[in-house]
Amino acid sequence: MELSRPISRPCIAAAFVLACLSTPAAPLQALDNGLARTPPMGWNSWNHFRCNGVNEAVVRAAADAMVASGMRDAGYRYVVLDDCWQAPARDADGRLQADPRRFPSGIEALADYVHARGLRFGLYAVPGSETCAMHWDRYPARGIGSFGHEAIDAATFAGWGVDYLKYDWCRADETEGLARPEAFAKMRDLLAATGRPIVYGISEYGHTRPWTWAAPIANLWRTTEDIRPTWESLMKIIDRQAALSPYSAPGAWNDPDMLQVGNRGLAENESRAHFSLWALLNAPLMAGNDLAGMDEATRRILTNREVIAVDQDWGGRQGERLRDDGEREVWAKPMSGGGVAVVLLNRGDAAADIAVGRAELGLPAAARCKARDLWHGRTRRLAATLRRRVAARDVAMLRIACSGAASSQSHRFRNDEVTDR
Ligand code: GLA
Repeated sequence: MELSRPISRPCIAAAFVLACLSTPAAPLQALDNGLARTPPMGWNSWNHFRCNGVNEAVVRAAADAMVASGMRDAGYRYVVLDDCWQAPARDADGRLQADPRRFPSGIEALADYVHARGLRFGLYAVPGSETCAMHWDRYPARGIGSFGHEAIDAATFAGWGVDYLKYDWCRADETEGLARPEAFAKMRDLLAATGRPIVYGISEYGHTRPWTWAAPIANLWRTTEDIRPTWESLMKIIDRQAALSPYSAPGAWNDPDMLQVGNRGLAENESRAHFSLWALLNAPLMAGNDLAGMDEATRRILTNREVIAVDQDWGGRQGERLRDDGEREVWAKPMSGGGVAVVLLNRGDAAADIAVGRAELGLPAAARCKARDLWHGRTRRLAATLRRRVAARDVAMLRIACSGAASSQSHRFRNDEVTDR
């Protein structure tokens, strides 16, 4: 497979290095279904409503709130119903059915409701016979996994109007003896055979380094265990993303899991840092809070268009950690127009000064550069060093754009040295 080749060389100084712009990146063999050319954006029921809290009223309210809050206009599209939508058993024809108590109108009607608001609808399924909630939450059901029913399930989803499938491993190796790439590829092919465009997200929690094999199979793959609404969980997850920048491309994204922005357990500053880092990583932005009940601070974070624009921009690679000084870190990613997006992260419990020099960001000394603060909306001239005081457990996020003096300076990111592909 092509996956043994590096995806791209850094174009972080692209505005100044024409050769960088004209050298095509080595192709990552991404799933060729024409979907998720930018990281998918939407909402998923799991992080807030979990298993027993989800029902059709909750999903409808999320769709309504996605519109009313301005999230749809900011780019959010997919309303994804996670685990626990299923009736305890399949029907007489072997078809999945919705739980009649919590989804009395059925899944097709729910998809229609979402579509009528200019949004798209997503659903959860598993390749084995047990969903994760059956195992971990004792969800009472039998045989509602897709094992042995893959074709009928793909057809059912397409018939209902599903636009996004989250296909979640849930121990299918232990329960059915399945192998991950084969089982995930089987559903990829069956979804394609339906003829309906369906974004395909897979999840095996990063256990077998899916970034090394999943790009031709899925539009996104989870890289870690489940996210929790704590600072420790966020930091643990980003530490695992730091080395993954060579492994994503349009149509094939690393997924550090759904957002916890606005969920109980995270303070506003922590949510802001979370959103900024996910954007810098070109992560799917799937809100995981109660959209209908969110406060204004949460809404403002989720709809910050300048931060979203960083997430949706592909400058040749996802962001990566340039510097790790203990609690002070510098993350950066190249922007397609030749600029750089930067996150100065303070992991600690006291305010700290964080600085990074132009050279480290791949910016030529002679160019005139401006740094726009994406959370405070201020633009300032960039001096030789970018320096900000960053509050505890918070970030400064900046977008740097330059003009003038071209230079042949070429910056190498740390992950250029990755060879274990
Ligand atoms: C796993 C996934 C979660 C969620 C639950 C549902 O834990 O990682 O995101 O889908 O299953 O049971």
